[in-house]
Amino acid sequence: MQTPWEYRYAHRTRQMGSSVIRELLKYAEQPDIISFAGGLPAPEVFPLKEFGEACNVVLSQHGPQALQYGATEGYLPLREMIARHTSRYMVEVTPDNILITSGSQQALDFIGRLFVNRGDYIVVESPTYLGALQAWNAYGAQYITVPMDESGMIVAQLEEALRKGPKFIYVLPNFQNPSGVTLSLERRKQVIELADKYGVPLIEDDPYGQLRYEGEHIQSLVHLDSEFRGHDGDCYSGNVIYLSTFSKLLAPGLRLAWVIAPTEVIRKLVMTKQAADLHTSSFNQYVAYEVGKGGFLDEHVKFIREVYRERRDVMLEMMEEMFPPEVHWTRPAGGMFLWGIMPENLDSAQLLKVALQRKVAFVPGASFHANGGGANTMRLNFSYSSPDVIREGITRLGLTLKEALHEGELAGVR
Ligand SMILES: Cc1ncc(COP(=O)(O)O)c(C=O)c1O
Repeated sequence: MQTPWEYRYAHRTRQMGSSVIRELLKYAEQPDIISFAGGLPAPEVFPLKEFGEACNVVLSQHGPQALQYGATEGYLPLREMIARHTSRYMVEVTPDNILITSGSQQALDFIGRLFVNRGDYIVVESPTYLGALQAWNAYGAQYITVPMDESGMIVAQLEEALRKGPKFIYVLPNFQNPSGVTLSLERRKQVIELADKYGVPLIEDDPYGQLRYEGEHIQSLVHLDSEFRGHDGDCYSGNVIYLSTFSKLLAPGLRLAWVIAPTEVIRKLVMTKQAADLHTSSFNQYVAYEVGKGGFLDEHVKFIREVYRERRDVMLEMMEEMFPPEVHWTRPAGGMFLWGIMPENLDSAQLLKVALQRKVAFVPGASFHANGGGANTMRLNFSYSSPDVIREGITRLGLTLKEALHEGELAGVR
C-alpha cells in the first residue's frame, strides 16, 4: 500500500538500500548465535583503562574546549600526530592534508557527494566493501567491476575499465574487506601508473593496514604515488585520497577516522563536512589524542596483532578439518576477514538460513558484488569470536556445508 510519504522522497533515494550486514548484526546480538558476520573488533582488546585515564585528563585539563564546538578540519594536535606518523611511514604530509571524519564511512559518503554525478562510473574491485557501494548508490553511481585473484585486482582488466572514463578507482589494498586479499607491490605500482596514464584518481581505503600477522609491510598507494611523481615537498599533492580509521586500532564506537588528500581536496571536503555535521566529536578527538600521544598505539597494535593472528590461525585450522573439500577459501596475511568460495550450485544466502538454525552466522557474498554474481561466496570474520567459539562455530558451519552439498548431490541424482 502506498503511503503519502512515498512520492515525496528524492529520486536519489531510489538506489538506497539497507546494508545486509547491519541487518545481520542483529543476530550477533543474540547470545546463542555464533556470529562470523559483523566486522567487529574483539571487545577484549579495547583499552578500557587507558580510555578511563584519558577521559579524566581531558575533563580536568581541557574540559571546556573538549565539550565545545571545534574546527571542521579536526583537533589540531590529533591532526599533527597523524601527520607525523604518516610522514614517517608513508608520505610527507602536513595537518593541512588531513581531515578528521566521523568514521571512514562518513569520508566515503563525502567522496560521493563531492565527486559523483548521477550515472558516473566508479571502478571497484569485485568483491568490494559493501559500505562504499551503499554510500555511493545514494548519489546514483554505477560501477565497473575488476575481478581479483590472490594478488588483488587484475590489472589488465583495470586498464579496460579505465578506457570507459570512470570518476575514480576505489581500492582496498591491504587484507581487503571482504576477501582478505592483499594487492601485491608490483600490481600497486601498475595501478598507480595506469591511474596516471588515464588521469583517474584513486581512493585508497586502508582500515586494516596495521593489522598484519605475517610477511612484510607493502608500501601504500599514496606512498607509491608520491614516489612516482618524484614529490619532494612536505605537502602531498598527488592522485590518491587515502582513508584510515581508529575503528580497528582503538574502538569503532569512537567514530573517528581521517582522510589524507591534496589540500585543495581537503578544502572541498571541509565544506562538505560543515554542511553535514560541522565537525567530528571534539571530546572523542581529545580522548583519542590523549590515549595515542605517548606512543601507546604502537604497543597496543602489537597486542591486537597477537590476538587476531591466533584467531585467524584457529579459524583456518578448523576450516581445514571441518569444511568439505569442494569449498575453498583465502588465507589472509592480516585484517579481520576471510572469504569462502563454494561450488557454483550452492547459494550462500540459502545456506545462511540453514546455518542460523544451527546458530551460526556469516555474510553471504553476493552483496559485496557491485554488478551481481558471487552467490556461492561468503565472508567470515575471525576477529570478534574467541578461539573456542571459533572452533564451535566452524564445526557447525562445516556440518551445514556438508549437509548442503550432500543434498545438492541428491538433487542432482533425482
Ligand atoms: C573497508 C572499510 N572501509 C570503511 C569502513 C568504515 O570504517 P569506520 O568505522 O571508520 O566508519 C570499514 C569498516 O568496517 C571498512 O571495512
